Amino acid sequence: MKISLLILLCLMYFFKFSNGARLLGIFAMPGNSHYILAEKLMKGFAAAGHNVTMISPYPTKGVPKNASWEDVVLEGLDEVYREKLKEINLYEDSTRSSWKRIISYQKLMLHWVNATLYHPKVRALLTPENKFDAVIMEQFLNDAHKYFAHYFQCHLILMSSMGPVSWVNNIATNPLPPSYVAHFFNNGEFSANKFWHRFFNLFDYISDNLVEYFYLRPLQNDLLQKAFPGAPTVEELNERTALIFLSSHMSLLEAVPLVPSMVEIGGYFIDPPKKLPKDLQQFLDNATEGVIYFSMGSNIKSRDMPMEKRQMLFNVFTKLKQKVLWKFEDENVTGMPDNALVKSWMPQQDILAHPNVKLFITHGGFLSTTETIYHGVPVLAIPVFADQFMNAKKAVQYGYGLMLPYHDNQNFNEETLIRLLQELLNNPIYQENAKRRSRIFHDRPIKPMANAVYWLEYVLKHDGAEHLKVAGRKLPFYQYLILDVVGVILVVIMLILFVGKVILFNKMFSDIKPPKEINKLKLG
Ligand SMILES: *[C@@H]1O[C@H](CO)[C@@H](O)[C@H](O)[C@H]1NC(C)=O
Ligand SMILES: *[C@@H]1O[C@H](CO)[C@@H](O)[C@H](O)[C@H]1NC(C)=O
Ligand SMILES: *[C@@H]1O[C@H](CO)[C@@H](O)[C@H](O)[C@H]1NC(C)=O
Ligand SMILES: *[C@@H]1O[C@H](CO)[C@@H](O)[C@H](O)[C@H]1NC(C)=O
Ligand SMILES: *[C@@H]1O[C@H](CO)[C@@H](O)[C@H](O)[C@H]1NC(C)=O
Repeated sequence: MKISLLILLCLMYFFKFSNGARLLGIFAMPGNSHYILAEKLMKGFAAAGHNVTMISPYPTKGVPKNASWEDVVLEGLDEVYREKLKEINLYEDSTRSSWKRIISYQKLMLHWVNATLYHPKVRALLTPENKFDAVIMEQFLNDAHKYFAHYFQCHLILMSSMGPVSWVNNIATNPLPPSYVAHFFNNGEFSANKFWHRFFNLFDYISDNLVEYFYLRPLQNDLLQKAFPGAPTVEELNERTALIFLSSHMSLLEAVPLVPSMVEIGGYFIDPPKKLPKDLQQFLDNATEGVIYFSMGSNIKSRDMPMEKRQMLFNVFTKLKQKVLWKFEDENVTGMPDNALVKSWMPQQDILAHPNVKLFITHGGFLSTTETIYHGVPVLAIPVFADQFMNAKKAVQYGYGLMLPYHDNQNFNEETLIRLLQELLNNPIYQENAKRRSRIFHDRPIKPMANAVYWLEYVLKHDGAEHLKVAGRKLPFYQYLILDVVGVILVVIMLILFVGKVILFNKMFSDIKPPKEINKLKLG
Protein backbone atom coordinates (compact mmCIF):
# COMPACT_ATOMS: atom_id res chain seq x y z
CA MET A 1 0.00 0.00 0.00
CA LYS A 2 2.70 2.42 1.07
CA ILE A 3 4.88 1.49 -1.87
CA SER A 4 2.11 1.99 -4.40
CA LEU A 5 1.45 5.41 -2.87
CA LEU A 6 5.14 6.21 -3.25
CA ILE A 7 5.10 5.10 -6.88
CA LEU A 8 2.00 7.20 -7.46
CA LEU A 9 3.72 10.21 -5.93
CA CYS A 10 6.81 9.63 -8.08
CA LEU A 11 4.65 9.31 -11.17
CA MET A 12 2.84 12.54 -10.31
CA TYR A 13 6.20 14.16 -9.80
CA PHE A 14 7.52 13.11 -13.19
CA PHE A 15 4.24 13.77 -14.90
CA LYS A 16 4.30 17.30 -13.56
CA PHE A 17 7.90 17.82 -14.58
CA SER A 18 7.45 16.52 -18.10
CA ASN A 19 4.54 18.91 -18.51
CA GLY A 20 6.31 21.88 -16.98
CA ALA A 21 6.31 25.05 -19.00
CA ARG A 22 9.41 27.21 -19.38
CA LEU A 23 8.76 30.57 -17.77
CA LEU A 24 10.90 33.68 -17.93
CA GLY A 25 10.25 36.11 -15.09
CA ILE A 26 11.54 39.66 -15.64
CA PHE A 27 11.38 41.73 -12.46
CA ALA A 28 14.17 44.28 -12.69
CA MET A 29 12.78 46.78 -10.20
CA PRO A 30 14.76 46.85 -6.96
CA GLY A 31 13.04 47.31 -3.61
CA ASN A 32 11.72 44.94 -1.03
CA SER A 33 7.98 44.88 -1.62
CA HIS A 34 8.12 44.57 -5.41
CA TYR A 35 10.68 41.81 -5.16
CA ILE A 36 8.67 39.84 -2.57
CA LEU A 37 5.64 39.89 -4.86
CA ALA A 38 7.70 38.77 -7.86
CA GLU A 39 9.60 36.06 -6.04
CA LYS A 40 6.50 34.55 -4.41
CA LEU A 41 4.64 34.44 -7.71
CA MET A 42 7.47 32.70 -9.58
CA LYS A 43 8.11 30.33 -6.66
CA GLY A 44 4.43 29.40 -6.75
CA PHE A 45 4.76 28.52 -10.43
CA ALA A 46 7.95 26.56 -9.78
CA ALA A 47 6.19 24.61 -7.01
CA ALA A 48 3.51 23.71 -9.54
CA GLY A 49 6.21 22.05 -11.66
CA HIS A 50 7.19 24.77 -14.11
CA ASN A 51 10.76 25.64 -15.04
CA VAL A 52 11.55 29.16 -13.95
CA THR A 53 14.27 31.52 -15.12
CA MET A 54 14.17 34.63 -12.97
CA ILE A 55 15.76 37.96 -13.97
CA SER A 56 15.92 40.23 -10.92
CA PRO A 57 18.34 42.35 -8.88
CA TYR A 58 18.60 39.72 -6.12
CA PRO A 59 19.61 36.07 -5.85
CA THR A 60 16.60 33.99 -4.80
CA LYS A 61 16.74 32.40 -1.38
CA GLY A 62 14.97 29.25 -0.28
CA VAL A 63 14.17 27.68 -3.65
CA PRO A 64 12.88 24.12 -3.00
CA LYS A 65 15.36 21.42 -4.03
CA ASN A 66 12.88 19.73 -6.34
CA ALA A 67 12.10 22.96 -8.25
CA SER A 68 13.73 23.82 -11.57
CA TRP A 69 14.98 27.34 -11.03
CA GLU A 70 17.64 29.52 -12.59
CA ASP A 71 18.57 32.98 -11.32
CA VAL A 72 19.83 35.74 -13.60
CA VAL A 73 21.00 38.34 -11.09
CA LEU A 74 21.28 41.95 -12.28
CA GLU A 75 24.17 43.15 -10.18
CA GLY A 76 24.46 46.82 -9.34
CA LEU A 77 20.78 47.74 -9.63
CA ASP A 78 20.09 47.53 -5.93
CA GLU A 79 23.11 49.71 -5.09
CA VAL A 80 21.83 52.49 -7.37
CA TYR A 81 18.42 52.13 -5.78
CA ARG A 82 19.83 52.57 -2.25
CA GLU A 83 21.67 55.70 -3.40
CA LYS A 84 18.54 57.18 -4.97
CA LEU A 85 16.47 56.35 -1.92
CA LYS A 86 18.78 58.50 0.19
CA GLU A 87 18.25 61.41 -2.21
CA ILE A 88 14.47 61.19 -2.19
CA ASN A 89 12.96 63.09 0.68
CA LEU A 90 9.92 60.97 1.40
CA TYR A 91 8.05 63.90 2.94
CA GLU A 92 8.54 66.05 -0.13
CA ASP A 93 7.54 63.09 -2.23
CA SER A 94 4.22 62.85 -0.44
CA THR A 95 3.43 66.51 -1.01
CA ARG A 96 4.36 66.61 -4.68
CA SER A 97 1.63 66.31 -7.29
CA SER A 98 0.96 62.88 -8.72
CA TRP A 99 2.33 63.88 -12.10
CA LYS A 100 5.63 65.10 -10.76
CA ARG A 101 5.85 61.87 -8.80
CA ILE A 102 5.17 59.59 -11.75
CA ILE A 103 7.69 61.50 -13.84
CA SER A 104 10.38 61.11 -11.17
CA TYR A 105 9.57 57.38 -10.85
CA GLN A 106 9.81 57.13 -14.62
CA LYS A 107 13.35 58.51 -14.55
CA LEU A 108 14.34 55.92 -11.96
CA MET A 109 12.58 53.11 -13.79
CA LEU A 110 14.21 54.03 -17.11
CA HIS A 111 17.53 53.35 -15.47
CA TRP A 112 16.63 49.78 -14.41
CA VAL A 113 14.82 49.09 -17.67
CA ASN A 114 17.79 50.24 -19.73
CA ALA A 115 20.33 48.45 -17.56
CA THR A 116 18.40 45.20 -18.02
CA LEU A 117 18.18 45.57 -21.80
CA TYR A 118 21.98 45.82 -22.04
CA HIS A 119 22.97 43.51 -19.20
CA PRO A 120 25.45 40.89 -20.47
CA LYS A 121 23.66 38.09 -18.59
CA VAL A 122 20.37 39.07 -20.16
CA ARG A 123 21.95 39.35 -23.61
CA ALA A 124 23.44 35.89 -23.09
CA LEU A 125 19.92 34.48 -22.72
CA LEU A 126 19.04 35.69 -26.20
CA THR A 127 20.15 32.68 -28.20
CA PRO A 128 18.15 30.43 -30.54
CA GLU A 129 18.76 27.48 -28.16
CA ASN A 130 16.80 29.15 -25.36
CA LYS A 131 13.09 28.67 -25.55
CA PHE A 132 10.33 29.98 -23.29
CA ASP A 133 6.59 29.41 -23.25
CA ALA A 134 5.74 32.62 -21.43
CA VAL A 135 7.33 35.83 -20.21
CA ILE A 136 5.96 37.02 -16.87
CA MET A 137 6.68 40.57 -15.74
CA GLU A 138 5.37 43.35 -13.56
CA GLN A 139 3.71 46.20 -15.44
CA PHE A 140 5.10 49.48 -14.13
CA LEU A 141 6.91 51.94 -16.40
CA ASN A 142 8.85 49.07 -17.99
CA ASP A 143 7.08 48.44 -21.31
CA ALA A 144 10.36 47.95 -23.18
CA HIS A 145 10.84 44.60 -21.41
CA LYS A 146 7.91 43.17 -23.33
CA TYR A 147 10.37 42.83 -26.18
CA PHE A 148 11.54 39.54 -24.66
CA ALA A 149 8.13 37.97 -25.27
CA HIS A 150 8.53 38.97 -28.92
CA TYR A 151 12.08 37.65 -29.09
CA PHE A 152 11.04 34.24 -27.75
CA GLN A 153 7.75 34.38 -29.68
CA CYS A 154 5.85 33.41 -26.57
CA HIS A 155 2.91 34.58 -24.48
CA LEU A 156 3.15 37.68 -22.34
CA ILE A 157 1.68 37.66 -18.84
CA LEU A 158 1.65 40.84 -16.77
CA MET A 159 1.31 41.41 -13.05
CA SER A 160 0.05 44.58 -11.43
CA SER A 161 1.12 45.02 -7.83
CA MET A 162 -1.41 47.82 -7.37
CA GLY A 163 -4.62 46.29 -8.66
CA PRO A 164 -6.52 47.48 -11.75
CA VAL A 165 -4.70 50.79 -12.29
CA SER A 166 -4.85 52.71 -15.56
CA TRP A 167 -1.62 51.35 -16.99
CA VAL A 168 -2.96 47.80 -17.00
CA ASN A 169 -6.58 48.67 -17.78
CA ASN A 170 -5.50 50.28 -21.02
CA ILE A 171 -3.72 47.11 -22.15
CA ALA A 172 -6.67 44.80 -21.50
CA THR A 173 -9.23 47.48 -22.43
CA ASN A 174 -10.81 47.12 -19.03
CA PRO A 175 -13.50 49.72 -18.38
CA LEU A 176 -13.01 51.71 -15.21
CA PRO A 177 -15.80 54.28 -15.05
CA PRO A 178 -14.53 57.68 -13.90
CA SER A 179 -18.02 58.25 -12.53
CA TYR A 180 -17.56 55.96 -9.56
CA VAL A 181 -13.98 54.60 -9.43
CA ALA A 182 -11.57 57.12 -7.91
CA HIS A 183 -8.39 57.50 -9.95
CA PHE A 184 -5.32 55.86 -8.44
CA PHE A 185 -3.69 59.25 -7.87
CA ASN A 186 -6.64 60.66 -5.98
CA ASN A 187 -5.32 61.20 -2.48
CA GLY A 188 -8.29 63.25 -1.34
CA GLU A 189 -11.88 62.28 -0.78
CA PHE A 190 -14.07 60.82 -3.48
CA SER A 191 -17.84 60.54 -3.41
CA ALA A 192 -19.37 59.40 -6.67
CA ASN A 193 -22.49 61.50 -6.12
CA LYS A 194 -20.60 64.80 -5.89
CA PHE A 195 -20.32 66.65 -9.19
CA TRP A 196 -16.91 68.23 -8.62
CA HIS A 197 -15.41 64.96 -7.39
CA ARG A 198 -16.46 63.29 -10.62
CA PHE A 199 -15.34 66.32 -12.59
CA PHE A 200 -11.78 66.23 -11.25
CA ASN A 201 -11.73 62.44 -11.38
CA LEU A 202 -12.45 62.58 -15.12
CA PHE A 203 -9.73 65.20 -15.41
CA ASP A 204 -7.27 62.80 -13.70
CA TYR A 205 -8.23 59.96 -16.06
CA ILE A 206 -7.80 62.10 -19.17
CA SER A 207 -4.50 63.69 -18.14
CA ASP A 208 -3.18 60.29 -17.08
CA ASN A 209 -3.88 58.91 -20.55
CA LEU A 210 -2.33 61.93 -22.23
CA VAL A 211 0.86 61.64 -20.15
CA GLU A 212 1.04 57.93 -20.95
CA TYR A 213 0.47 58.41 -24.67
CA PHE A 214 2.58 61.49 -25.35
CA TYR A 215 5.33 61.18 -22.76
CA LEU A 216 5.85 57.82 -21.05
CA ARG A 217 5.32 55.49 -24.00
CA PRO A 218 7.58 57.34 -26.47
CA LEU A 219 10.39 57.15 -23.88
CA GLN A 220 10.01 53.38 -23.66
CA ASN A 221 9.83 53.06 -27.44
CA ASP A 222 13.03 55.10 -27.86
CA LEU A 223 14.87 53.06 -25.28
CA LEU A 224 13.79 49.82 -26.92
CA GLN A 225 14.63 50.95 -30.47
CA LYS A 226 18.14 51.95 -29.35
CA ALA A 227 18.72 48.65 -27.54
CA PHE A 228 17.14 46.42 -30.21
CA PRO A 229 16.86 48.27 -33.53
CA GLY A 230 13.79 47.21 -35.49
CA ALA A 231 11.94 45.96 -32.40
CA PRO A 232 8.15 46.20 -32.50
CA THR A 233 6.57 49.19 -30.80
CA VAL A 234 5.16 48.95 -27.28
CA GLU A 235 1.65 49.13 -28.78
CA GLU A 236 2.38 46.06 -30.91
CA LEU A 237 4.00 44.25 -28.00
CA ASN A 238 0.95 44.89 -25.83
CA GLU A 239 -1.07 42.79 -28.29
CA ARG A 240 0.79 39.77 -26.98
CA THR A 241 -0.58 40.20 -23.47
CA ALA A 242 -2.61 37.09 -22.76
CA LEU A 243 -3.30 37.63 -19.09
CA ILE A 244 -2.94 40.24 -16.36
CA PHE A 245 -2.65 39.14 -12.74
CA LEU A 246 -3.81 41.69 -10.20
CA SER A 247 -2.35 41.58 -6.73
CA SER A 248 -5.67 42.87 -5.43
CA HIS A 249 -9.01 41.59 -4.24
CA MET A 250 -12.33 43.25 -3.51
CA SER A 251 -11.70 42.71 0.21
CA LEU A 252 -8.62 44.96 -0.11
CA LEU A 253 -9.73 47.67 -2.54
CA GLU A 254 -13.27 47.76 -3.90
CA ALA A 255 -15.59 46.04 -6.36
CA VAL A 256 -14.73 47.12 -9.92
CA PRO A 257 -15.43 45.69 -13.39
CA LEU A 258 -12.80 43.24 -14.68
CA VAL A 259 -12.56 41.79 -18.19
CA PRO A 260 -11.93 37.99 -18.30
CA SER A 261 -8.20 38.38 -19.05
CA MET A 262 -7.66 40.14 -15.70
CA VAL A 263 -7.44 37.82 -12.74
CA GLU A 264 -7.39 38.85 -9.08
CA ILE A 265 -4.87 36.94 -6.98
CA GLY A 266 -4.52 39.39 -4.08
CA GLY A 267 -2.83 37.85 -1.04
CA TYR A 268 -1.09 35.02 -2.93
CA PHE A 269 2.20 35.99 -1.28
CA ILE A 270 1.02 35.18 2.25
CA ASP A 271 2.13 31.87 3.74
CA PRO A 272 0.09 29.97 6.32
CA PRO A 273 1.32 30.90 9.84
CA LYS A 274 4.56 29.25 10.99
CA LYS A 275 5.91 28.66 14.49
CA LEU A 276 7.28 31.81 16.15
CA PRO A 277 10.77 32.06 17.68
CA LYS A 278 10.63 31.07 21.34
CA ASP A 279 11.10 34.56 22.84
CA LEU A 280 8.39 36.11 20.69
CA GLN A 281 6.04 33.20 21.33
CA GLN A 282 6.47 33.65 25.10
CA PHE A 283 6.11 37.42 24.91
CA LEU A 284 2.86 37.09 22.97
CA ASP A 285 1.47 34.21 25.05
CA ASN A 286 2.15 36.11 28.28
CA ALA A 287 0.44 39.27 27.12
CA THR A 288 -2.97 38.71 28.68
CA GLU A 289 -3.94 42.36 28.08
CA GLY A 290 -3.01 42.11 24.42
CA VAL A 291 -0.15 43.25 22.21
CA ILE A 292 0.29 46.20 19.86
CA TYR A 293 2.53 45.37 16.94
CA PHE A 294 4.36 48.40 15.51
CA SER A 295 6.26 48.40 12.23
CA MET A 296 6.80 51.11 9.63
CA GLY A 297 7.81 48.65 6.89
CA SER A 298 11.15 48.24 5.21
CA ASN A 299 11.78 51.64 3.62
CA ILE A 300 11.10 53.88 6.60
CA LYS A 301 13.51 53.06 9.38
CA SER A 302 12.36 53.72 12.92
CA ARG A 303 15.89 54.76 13.75
CA ASP A 304 15.63 57.64 11.24
CA MET A 305 12.66 58.95 13.19
CA PRO A 306 13.41 62.32 14.81
CA MET A 307 14.27 62.04 18.51
CA GLU A 308 11.20 63.97 19.69
CA LYS A 309 8.85 61.72 17.73
CA ARG A 310 10.54 58.68 19.16
CA GLN A 311 10.30 60.05 22.71
CA MET A 312 6.66 60.84 22.18
CA LEU A 313 5.98 57.24 21.16
CA PHE A 314 7.86 56.02 24.27
CA ASN A 315 5.62 58.22 26.43
CA VAL A 316 2.49 56.96 24.71
CA PHE A 317 3.43 53.29 25.01
CA THR A 318 4.33 53.65 28.71
CA LYS A 319 0.77 54.73 29.40
CA LEU A 320 -0.78 51.61 27.85
CA LYS A 321 -1.57 48.39 29.69
CA GLN A 322 -0.95 46.45 26.46
CA LYS A 323 2.51 45.19 25.56
CA VAL A 324 4.25 46.58 22.48
CA LEU A 325 6.25 44.70 19.85
CA TRP A 326 8.31 47.26 17.97
CA LYS A 327 10.24 46.56 14.79
CA PHE A 328 13.14 48.89 15.43
CA GLU A 329 16.40 48.62 13.53
CA ASP A 330 18.59 49.49 16.51
CA GLU A 331 18.05 46.79 19.13
CA ASN A 332 20.35 48.63 21.58
CA VAL A 333 18.12 51.69 21.70
CA THR A 334 17.85 53.09 25.24
CA GLY A 335 14.78 54.49 26.97
CA MET A 336 12.33 51.91 25.63
CA PRO A 337 9.33 51.44 27.93
CA ASP A 338 9.31 48.24 30.04
CA ASN A 339 6.28 46.84 28.25
CA ALA A 340 8.00 47.00 24.84
CA LEU A 341 10.11 44.40 23.06
CA VAL A 342 12.35 45.68 20.29
CA LYS A 343 13.66 43.62 17.39
CA SER A 344 15.35 44.66 14.16
CA TRP A 345 13.47 41.99 12.23
CA MET A 346 10.06 40.50 12.91
CA PRO A 347 8.23 37.56 11.31
CA GLN A 348 5.32 39.89 10.63
CA GLN A 349 2.82 37.42 9.19
CA ASP A 350 3.29 34.97 12.07
CA ILE A 351 2.97 37.75 14.65
CA LEU A 352 -0.27 39.05 13.13
CA ALA A 353 -1.58 35.48 13.30
CA HIS A 354 -1.25 35.42 17.12
CA PRO A 355 -4.65 35.88 18.83
CA ASN A 356 -3.22 38.27 21.45
CA VAL A 357 -2.28 40.88 18.83
CA LYS A 358 -4.99 43.51 19.21
CA LEU A 359 -3.67 46.28 16.97
CA PHE A 360 -1.17 46.88 14.19
CA ILE A 361 0.43 50.33 13.95
CA THR A 362 1.56 50.42 10.33
CA HIS A 363 2.73 52.76 7.58
CA GLY A 364 -0.08 51.25 5.49
CA GLY A 365 2.03 49.71 2.72
CA PHE A 366 0.26 47.34 0.37
CA LEU A 367 1.85 44.15 1.71
CA SER A 368 1.22 45.07 5.35
CA THR A 369 -2.37 46.04 4.58
CA THR A 370 -2.99 42.74 2.83
CA GLU A 371 -1.45 40.81 5.72
CA THR A 372 -3.50 42.63 8.35
CA ILE A 373 -6.72 41.89 6.46
CA TYR A 374 -5.68 38.26 6.02
CA HIS A 375 -5.41 37.96 9.82
CA GLY A 376 -8.24 40.36 10.71
CA VAL A 377 -6.21 42.77 12.85
CA PRO A 378 -7.35 46.43 13.18
CA VAL A 379 -4.85 49.15 12.27
CA LEU A 380 -3.67 52.59 13.17
CA ALA A 381 -2.28 53.68 9.81
CA ILE A 382 0.51 56.26 9.75
CA PRO A 383 0.91 56.80 6.00
CA VAL A 384 4.13 58.44 4.78
CA PHE A 385 4.10 58.34 0.97
CA ALA A 386 2.84 56.74 -2.28
CA ASP A 387 -0.15 54.37 -2.09
CA GLN A 388 -0.04 54.31 1.72
CA PHE A 389 -2.60 57.13 1.92
CA MET A 390 -5.03 55.24 -0.28
CA ASN A 391 -4.68 52.07 1.83
CA ALA A 392 -5.08 54.07 5.05
CA LYS A 393 -8.22 55.71 3.75
CA LYS A 394 -9.66 52.32 2.86
CA ALA A 395 -9.03 51.17 6.44
CA VAL A 396 -11.00 54.14 7.73
CA GLN A 397 -13.72 53.72 5.11
CA TYR A 398 -14.21 50.02 5.88
CA GLY A 399 -14.11 50.71 9.60
CA TYR A 400 -11.19 48.49 10.58
CA GLY A 401 -8.78 51.31 11.38
CA LEU A 402 -7.99 54.96 11.94
CA MET A 403 -5.30 57.07 10.32
CA LEU A 404 -2.84 59.73 11.40
CA PRO A 405 -0.50 60.90 8.62
CA TYR A 406 3.14 60.88 9.68
CA HIS A 407 3.72 64.45 8.52
CA ASP A 408 0.56 65.90 10.01
CA ASN A 409 2.52 67.97 12.53
CA GLN A 410 -0.60 69.56 13.92
CA ASN A 411 -2.12 66.28 15.07
CA PHE A 412 0.86 63.99 15.44
CA ASN A 413 1.17 64.47 19.20
CA GLU A 414 0.81 62.54 22.42
CA GLU A 415 -2.84 63.41 23.13
CA THR A 416 -4.09 62.50 19.66
CA LEU A 417 -2.13 59.26 19.59
CA ILE A 418 -3.42 58.18 22.99
CA ARG A 419 -6.96 59.12 22.00
CA LEU A 420 -6.80 57.13 18.75
CA LEU A 421 -5.18 54.13 20.43
CA GLN A 422 -7.75 54.06 23.25
CA GLU A 423 -10.56 54.24 20.71
CA LEU A 424 -9.09 51.41 18.63
CA LEU A 425 -8.36 49.21 21.65
CA ASN A 426 -11.58 49.78 23.57
CA ASN A 427 -14.21 50.02 20.87
CA PRO A 428 -14.88 46.47 19.59
CA ILE A 429 -16.25 47.73 16.26
CA TYR A 430 -12.76 47.93 14.71
CA GLN A 431 -11.99 44.33 15.57
CA GLU A 432 -15.38 43.21 14.25
CA ASN A 433 -14.88 45.06 10.96
CA ALA A 434 -11.35 43.68 10.60
CA LYS A 435 -12.67 40.15 11.11
CA ARG A 436 -15.44 40.80 8.58
CA ARG A 437 -12.90 41.96 5.98
CA SER A 438 -10.83 38.90 6.75
CA ARG A 439 -13.79 36.59 6.12
CA ILE A 440 -14.41 38.29 2.75
CA PHE A 441 -10.71 37.90 1.94
CA HIS A 442 -10.70 34.16 2.64
CA ASP A 443 -14.07 33.27 1.12
CA ARG A 444 -13.02 32.38 -2.42
CA PRO A 445 -13.61 29.26 -4.51
CA ILE A 446 -9.86 28.74 -4.92
CA LYS A 447 -6.79 29.96 -3.03
CA PRO A 448 -5.08 32.90 -4.77
CA MET A 449 -1.81 31.15 -5.70
CA ALA A 450 -3.71 28.10 -6.97
CA ASN A 451 -5.82 30.52 -9.00
CA ALA A 452 -2.68 32.06 -10.51
CA VAL A 453 -1.36 28.59 -11.45
CA TYR A 454 -4.73 27.65 -12.94
CA TRP A 455 -4.89 30.72 -15.17
CA LEU A 456 -1.25 30.49 -16.22
CA GLU A 457 -1.78 26.90 -17.34
CA TYR A 458 -5.11 27.85 -18.93
CA VAL A 459 -3.43 30.44 -21.13
CA LEU A 460 -0.68 27.98 -22.12
CA LYS A 461 -3.18 25.18 -22.81
CA HIS A 462 -5.35 27.42 -25.00
CA ASP A 463 -2.41 28.93 -26.84
CA GLY A 464 -2.78 32.46 -25.52
CA ALA A 465 -6.54 32.17 -24.89
CA GLU A 466 -7.56 34.70 -27.54
CA HIS A 467 -11.15 34.11 -26.50
CA LEU A 468 -10.51 35.94 -23.20
CA LYS A 469 -9.82 39.20 -25.01
CA VAL A 470 -12.63 41.70 -25.40
CA ALA A 471 -13.33 43.03 -28.90
CA GLY A 472 -12.81 46.57 -27.63
CA ARG A 473 -9.04 45.97 -27.69
CA LYS A 474 -9.03 46.35 -31.45
CA LEU A 475 -10.99 49.61 -31.59
CA PRO A 476 -9.46 53.08 -31.86
CA PHE A 477 -10.38 55.18 -28.86
CA TYR A 478 -13.07 57.27 -30.58
CA GLN A 479 -14.88 54.10 -31.64
CA TYR A 480 -14.42 52.51 -28.21
CA LEU A 481 -15.98 55.55 -26.55
CA ILE A 482 -18.55 55.68 -29.42
CA LEU A 483 -17.64 59.30 -29.95
CA ASP A 484 -18.29 58.82 -33.68
CA VAL A 485 -21.85 57.67 -33.06
CA VAL A 486 -22.46 60.42 -30.52
CA GLY A 487 -21.03 62.85 -33.08
CA VAL A 488 -23.45 61.70 -35.78
CA ILE A 489 -26.36 61.87 -33.35
CA LEU A 490 -25.37 65.41 -32.40
CA VAL A 491 -25.14 66.42 -36.06
CA VAL A 492 -28.57 64.92 -36.76
CA ILE A 493 -30.07 66.69 -33.75
CA MET A 494 -28.53 69.94 -34.87
CA LEU A 495 -29.86 69.43 -38.38
CA ILE A 496 -33.34 68.75 -37.05
CA LEU A 497 -33.13 71.83 -34.87
CA PHE A 498 -31.92 73.89 -37.77
CA VAL A 499 -34.61 72.68 -40.15
CA GLY A 500 -37.19 73.09 -37.39
CA LYS A 501 -36.02 76.59 -36.74
CA VAL A 502 -36.22 77.54 -40.39
CA ILE A 503 -39.78 76.17 -40.69
CA LEU A 504 -40.81 77.77 -37.42
CA PHE A 505 -39.24 81.01 -38.45
CA ASN A 506 -41.07 81.06 -41.74
CA LYS A 507 -44.32 80.23 -40.01
CA MET A 508 -43.82 83.00 -37.48
CA PHE A 509 -42.89 85.32 -40.26
CA SER A 510 -46.05 84.48 -42.12
CA ASP A 511 -48.01 84.93 -38.88
CA ILE A 512 -46.85 88.50 -38.48
CA LYS A 513 -48.18 89.38 -41.91
CA PRO A 514 -51.18 91.62 -41.36
CA PRO A 515 -54.48 89.73 -41.66
CA LYS A 516 -56.40 90.23 -44.86
CA GLU A 517 -59.25 91.86 -42.98
CA ILE A 518 -56.94 94.65 -41.87
CA ASN A 519 -55.72 95.10 -45.40
CA LYS A 520 -59.26 95.23 -46.54
CA LEU A 521 -60.09 97.71 -43.82
CA LYS A 522 -57.20 99.88 -44.79
CA LEU A 523 -58.15 99.61 -48.40
CA GLY A 524 -61.69 100.39 -47.47
C1 LIG B 1 8.39 19.81 -4.31
O1 LIG B 1 8.09 19.29 -3.04
C2 LIG B 1 7.05 19.96 -2.35
C3 LIG B 1 6.95 19.41 -0.96
O2 LIG B 1 7.41 18.12 -0.88
C4 LIG B 1 5.75 19.82 -3.14
O3 LIG B 1 4.70 20.50 -2.47
C5 LIG B 1 5.94 20.41 -4.51
O4 LIG B 1 4.78 20.23 -5.29
C6 LIG B 1 7.14 19.79 -5.20
N1 LIG B 1 7.43 20.48 -6.43
C7 LIG B 1 7.49 19.91 -7.61
C8 LIG B 1 7.87 20.78 -8.72
O5 LIG B 1 7.27 18.74 -7.76
C1 LIG C 1 12.84 21.65 -16.84
O1 LIG C 1 13.99 21.50 -16.05
C2 LIG C 1 14.36 20.15 -15.85
C3 LIG C 1 15.48 20.12 -14.85
O2 LIG C 1 16.42 21.12 -15.11
C4 LIG C 1 14.72 19.54 -17.18
O3 LIG C 1 15.05 18.17 -17.01
C5 LIG C 1 13.51 19.64 -18.11
O4 LIG C 1 13.84 19.17 -19.39
C6 LIG C 1 13.06 21.08 -18.21
N1 LIG C 1 11.82 21.13 -18.95
C7 LIG C 1 11.67 21.86 -20.05
C8 LIG C 1 10.32 21.83 -20.66
O5 LIG C 1 12.57 22.55 -20.50
C1 LIG D 1 21.21 52.77 -21.86
O1 LIG D 1 22.38 52.01 -21.64
C2 LIG D 1 23.32 52.08 -22.69
C3 LIG D 1 24.42 51.09 -22.41
O2 LIG D 1 24.86 51.17 -21.11
C4 LIG D 1 23.82 53.51 -22.80
O3 LIG D 1 24.72 53.60 -23.88
C5 LIG D 1 22.62 54.42 -23.03
O4 LIG D 1 23.03 55.75 -23.02
C6 LIG D 1 21.58 54.23 -21.97
N1 LIG D 1 20.40 55.00 -22.31
C7 LIG D 1 19.74 55.73 -21.42
C8 LIG D 1 18.58 56.51 -21.92
O5 LIG D 1 20.07 55.79 -20.26
C1 LIG E 1 6.11 34.36 30.48
O1 LIG E 1 5.53 33.77 31.62
C2 LIG E 1 6.27 32.69 32.10
C3 LIG E 1 5.48 32.02 33.22
O2 LIG E 1 4.56 32.88 33.81
C4 LIG E 1 7.63 33.16 32.58
O3 LIG E 1 8.40 32.07 33.05
C5 LIG E 1 8.35 33.83 31.40
O4 LIG E 1 9.55 34.39 31.85
C6 LIG E 1 7.49 34.89 30.80
N1 LIG E 1 8.16 35.34 29.57
C7 LIG E 1 8.22 36.58 29.19
C8 LIG E 1 8.95 36.83 27.91
O5 LIG E 1 7.75 37.50 29.83
C1 LIG F 1 24.11 46.00 20.29
O1 LIG F 1 25.10 45.82 21.28
C2 LIG F 1 25.75 44.57 21.20
C3 LIG F 1 26.66 44.41 22.38
O2 LIG F 1 27.02 45.64 22.90
C4 LIG F 1 26.49 44.47 19.86
O3 LIG F 1 27.14 43.23 19.75
C5 LIG F 1 25.49 44.62 18.73
O4 LIG F 1 26.15 44.64 17.49
C6 LIG F 1 24.67 45.91 18.89
N1 LIG F 1 23.63 45.89 17.90
C7 LIG F 1 23.36 46.93 17.09
C8 LIG F 1 22.26 46.75 16.12
O5 LIG F 1 24.00 47.96 17.14
